[in-house]
Amino acid sequence: MPLPAAPTAGRVVLLTGPWAALGWGGLRAPSSGATHTVAGDRAGEETALDLFNKAYRYRRANDLIDAGLYGWFRPIRESSGGTRVEIDGRELVMAGSNNYLGLTHHPHVMAAAREAIDRFGTGCTGSRFLNGTLSIHEEMEERLARFLNKEACITSGTGYQTNVGAIATLAGKNDVIFGDRDNHASIIDGARLAFARHLKYRHNDIDDLARLLETTEVGPEGGRLIITDGVFSMLGDLARVPELVAQAKRHEARLMVDDAHAVGVLGATGSGTPEHFGLSDDVDLVIGTFSKSFACLGGFVAGPKTVIDYIRHTSRSVIFSASVTPASVATVLASLDIIEREPERRERLWKNVNRMKAGLEALGFDVIDGGGPILSVVIGDDTTTLEFNKLLFEQGVFVNPVLPPAAPPGMSLLRTSYMATHTEEDLDVILAAFKAVSEKLGILG
Ligand SMILES: Cc1ncc(COP(=O)(O)O)c(C=O)c1O
Repeated sequence: MPLPAAPTAGRVVLLTGPWAALGWGGLRAPSSGATHTVAGDRAGEETALDLFNKAYRYRRANDLIDAGLYGWFRPIRESSGGTRVEIDGRELVMAGSNNYLGLTHHPHVMAAAREAIDRFGTGCTGSRFLNGTLSIHEEMEERLARFLNKEACITSGTGYQTNVGAIATLAGKNDVIFGDRDNHASIIDGARLAFARHLKYRHNDIDDLARLLETTEVGPEGGRLIITDGVFSMLGDLARVPELVAQAKRHEARLMVDDAHAVGVLGATGSGTPEHFGLSDDVDLVIGTFSKSFACLGGFVAGPKTVIDYIRHTSRSVIFSASVTPASVATVLASLDIIEREPERRERLWKNVNRMKAGLEALGFDVIDGGGPILSVVIGDDTTTLEFNKLLFEQGVFVNPVLPPAAPPGMSLLRTSYMATHTEEDLDVILAAFKAVSEKLGILG
């Protein structure tokens, strides 16, 4: 089905920007569809200077609803085991979550969260700085620091906030940030809030980074900070950490790795990308989130004690925002127990990832070999990617489409991600759906 035309541009533009990074089911608006009544309805009410005009003119969501292609904000009615979800009365195999270890439904983790609520209540109602520090926050930070082979760690409400707070507090007006072009939005936003210059190097292109490092003057008493995702969230590929470490050393830069998609799963003990490359001591700062392998909500930055103490006392995300809830803290502690005690969980994850990679390739798909828990299947054309995704949904499989600019031009893809708890049957359903849809669309010859 062709996409609707955008009011100001062609159909590809319609789905770029934030749309590209969002989930997509290609279904009609849910029967309760009222939530999607937006914008254009009120175009006639514009007055010349009204701030709301941009909202009144906004048509994207309604255009997609009209085309039967709107697929965001799909309400999951039930998710009893994590690998299967119910949406609109349909059971789907979840191949689009970041619940890599499947811990959101682990009995030990769920019991710990309930106990924490009994002991501390549902929220901390304040920041770490003031009334929001619990004994279990300190225990969690100490354990995380040890787990990550770092001296210290400080947490804040989400991974997004952690990046924004840490980057903005560390990089000042005389400093320069060198960031991979495909870094997560929270890194970009942190750099925007910092007064530092932010230079972007081509994705995973170390020569481009070296060129920027060599040719960029730093202000008086300024420093250099290289920032990269550890596993890139859309393509699923790994940062070239050894070369980044070498560049950081050569140019006296500090290296920060956002390991949101790797902590808990990569490396011999699951501590992430630096461990995977045997370079834990050479990465200065590790950022992470609790919203993926740690099965809840929150974020952390770990590194040298002096630097973490500085962030603790100066990051606005720490000082001016409430601390991680007791249930989430307990979830992290219980998840750490399991990550440390059950390496077989990581083995099952990699077995599942390898099986899916081999299965998808055997069907003829071009799969980006990321090395992490994300397998991105290149479809190419935007419209076919969205159509493919819609049909997968109808076949009972939930994945995430990724379009430019989140994917390289002409390389729109379906981002699939796996869990240690996916069963053989779950994986069979996913492979059968990919096969059926490719036959229906007549792609792969
Ligand atoms: C690389 C990366 N960094 C940071 C975040 C933000 O984490 P959170 O969901 O905890 O805000 C994400 C989440 O998608 C991510 O993929």
